Amino acid sequence: MTDKPGAAIAGTGSYIPEKVLSNSDLSRMVDTSDEWITVRTGIKERHIAGEGETTASMAVGASQRALEDAGIGAEQIDAIICATITPEMPLPATACFIQDELGAERASAFDIAAACSGFVYGLEIGKMFIESGQYEHVLLVGSETLSRITDYQDRSTCILFGDGAGAAVLKATNDRERRITYTSLKSNGHKWDMLQLPGGGSRYPASQEVLDNRMQYMKIQGRAIYKFAVNSMQQLIIDAMKQCNLSVEDVKMVVPHQVNRRIIDSATEKLGFPPEKVYINIDRCGNTSSASVPIALDEARRTGRIQAGDTIIIVAFGGGLTWGSAVVKL
Ligand code: ACO
Repeated sequence: MTDKPGAAIAGTGSYIPEKVLSNSDLSRMVDTSDEWITVRTGIKERHIAGEGETTASMAVGASQRALEDAGIGAEQIDAIICATITPEMPLPATACFIQDELGAERASAFDIAAACSGFVYGLEIGKMFIESGQYEHVLLVGSETLSRITDYQDRSTCILFGDGAGAAVLKATNDRERRITYTSLKSNGHKWDMLQLPGGGSRYPASQEVLDNRMQYMKIQGRAIYKFAVNSMQQLIIDAMKQCNLSVEDVKMVVPHQVNRRIIDSATEKLGFPPEKVYINIDRCGNTSSASVPIALDEARRTGRIQAGDTIIIVAFGGGLTWGSAVVKL
């Protein structure tokens, strides 16, 4: 009897725009300070898409690096999944723009919208496609231009978000030691209003009234999300470790959604993870929603903090509410 194929992460890539928006820049735009932002969130600066940079263009940059890293050509991709809440346009899917630019002729292409959990949702979908035998190579991208849905008059949200893209090539493998071993996804639609961008959809189509009420921008209940995030991050890690029979010693790195430094520290410290086992780039990148995990993953791989053979835990949560985790043997 042959084993069913597993899905391995064969390559990663990321794209971070050059333009920097620092805390001091923000303190000239709204009533805030570098100190407040640093203490409450751990963010010092975030990168912002420049003129001509869009969700698709950044996604393509990250994807090209991931393909190169995986050593495969665009023509070998069977499916492109793009996780984003800031699509290139509502129609068509951003994944189709990526396909066009890469020349991935035989790929299917579609987007998923699971906010900050988008990349983890995509990991489970890509894993299932590969395990079913349907596809051999899946390109999974998280890309966000959050600066274009951020209200730079609202100090409680504009300090948090940045732009960027991250990508991973998932590849069929028979190697039992190198694969995505576990994924778990959850959601709670009752809490849909905790993070929302109300304008421009079917409930509030684009109109002057939408613009006048600034409904084209994200609204968040920061304090409530904070509490949810600390609990869910901790529980996600506990469950993943339990299901995969892992101790802190077995885990090389936790790669969390970069939501808030205090949230990440409080959840991981309680579980006994030392700082060197938790990947952090929120100080430089802010919260980039679905791009946050794949950018962190790519940086951790390229700087040698995680290597082939290591076991990592990925955790994310976001609007929906949605949350999820994955255990990957690299
Ligand atoms: N600068 C200075 N003061 C501010 C700022 C600011 N940028 N923003 C809010 N304040 C003030 C508030 O007005 C409030 O003042 P008051 O006490 O006089 O009313 C005070 O600071 C405290 O406000 P809180 O909202 O309670 O501050 P908190 O400590 O909760 O920090 C933050 C806010 C950073 C948003 C935090 O709640 C957080 O990180 N939440 C979760 C992250 C989040 O929501 N991310 C959104 C994306 S979702 C996701 O990725 C899952």
